[in-house]
Amino acid sequence: MSLKGKVTVVGAGFYGSTTALRLAEYNIFETVVLTDIVEGKPEGLALDMNQSRSIEGFETKVVGATTTAEGAGYEATANSDVVVITAGLPRKPGMSRMDLIGVNAGIVRGVAENIAQHSPNAVIIVVSNPLDEMTALAQIATGFPKNKVMGQAGMLDTARFTNFVAEKVGVPVGAVRTLTLGSHGETMVPVPSRCTVNGKPLTELLSAEEIAELVDRTRNGGAEVVALLKTGSAYYAPSAAAARMAKAVIEDSGVVMPVCAWVDGQFGISGVYLGVEAEIGREGVRNVVEGSLTPSEVESLKVAAEAVRAKQADVKDL
Ligand code: LAC
Repeated sequence: MSLKGKVTVVGAGFYGSTTALRLAEYNIFETVVLTDIVEGKPEGLALDMNQSRSIEGFETKVVGATTTAEGAGYEATANSDVVVITAGLPRKPGMSRMDLIGVNAGIVRGVAENIAQHSPNAVIIVVSNPLDEMTALAQIATGFPKNKVMGQAGMLDTARFTNFVAEKVGVPVGAVRTLTLGSHGETMVPVPSRCTVNGKPLTELLSAEEIAELVDRTRNGGAEVVALLKTGSAYYAPSAAAARMAKAVIEDSGVVMPVCAWVDGQFGISGVYLGVEAEIGREGVRNVVEGSLTPSEVESLKVAAEAVRAKQADVKDL
C-alpha cells in the first residue's frame, strides 16, 4: 500500500501523542509530524514511535519538532494536508471546559496563525477546549474557508454514549448505535431517537429514566475521567475520534460522523459552529447532514446553538 500525505499534530501531551501514534499505526500517511513547545519532547516521542515501527508493522515516518509561540520550528509542518490542534491546557478536577477559554484562546490563536502560514491548504481539526469556541477561533485566526476547519467532539461523545448503553444492556458495543449532537459541554444533545441496539430502538429496551441517566453520564463523560485522573483529561477515546476524522480527510472517504462543523441553514440554525453530523472528505466538511430528529431534539439543538453562538461571538476578541 502506498503511503500518502502529511498530518501534523500540534501538542505532544497525552492527547496529541496518542493521536500521533494512532495516525502512524494506520500506516496510510507518509509523514506524521508531532510538535510541542517543550524542547525535545516531540523529538523524543517521535524517535520512540519510529522505533516501534518494525514491531507494529507500519512505515509511516514520525517527525518531532519543537516549536515556539513566535513560529520557530513550524517549517517541519509545512504543507500538511491535515492538522490536528490539541494545544492548550486540559481541565483540572472541578473545572468546566469553559473555564479554559481565556488561556486556551491565546494558545490556539497563535498556533492557528502559524499553521495557516506554513500549510495554507490544510484541513484543521481542533480538539482544544472549550471545543466549539476554539474551533470558531481557529477558523477566524487561519482565515480558512469554514468547511476546512472543524472540531472533534461528537465522535467522542457518541462513543461514550455507545459504551454506556452497551454496558447497561449487556451487549457488544458493535451492536449499539448512538448519536450526540450540540455542544461539547452543558448543551450536549444526545439523540435517543437515533439510538438502537441490534436495530431495535433504545426506547424499547430501556426506560426513559434509564436513558436519561446514561445521557447525563455522557454529558459529564469528560469530567468523570478528569475527576478520576486528577491531573489531565481523557485521551484514549478523544484521540481515537480525532484520528478517525483525520483518516476520513486524507482518504476522502465521505464517511458521515458527528463533528463540530459550521452550520448555515440546517435544522433552521445559521452562522454557528455546532455539533452535527457531517460528511467528511478531502476538503473537510463536504456537507452537513440533516438526519431525522424529533421536534424536541431539534429544539434542544437550537438551544445548544444559541448557547455556543453567544460564546463564539466573544472569542474573536480573545
Ligand atoms: C473530554 C475532553 C477531551 O471530553 O473534552 O474528555
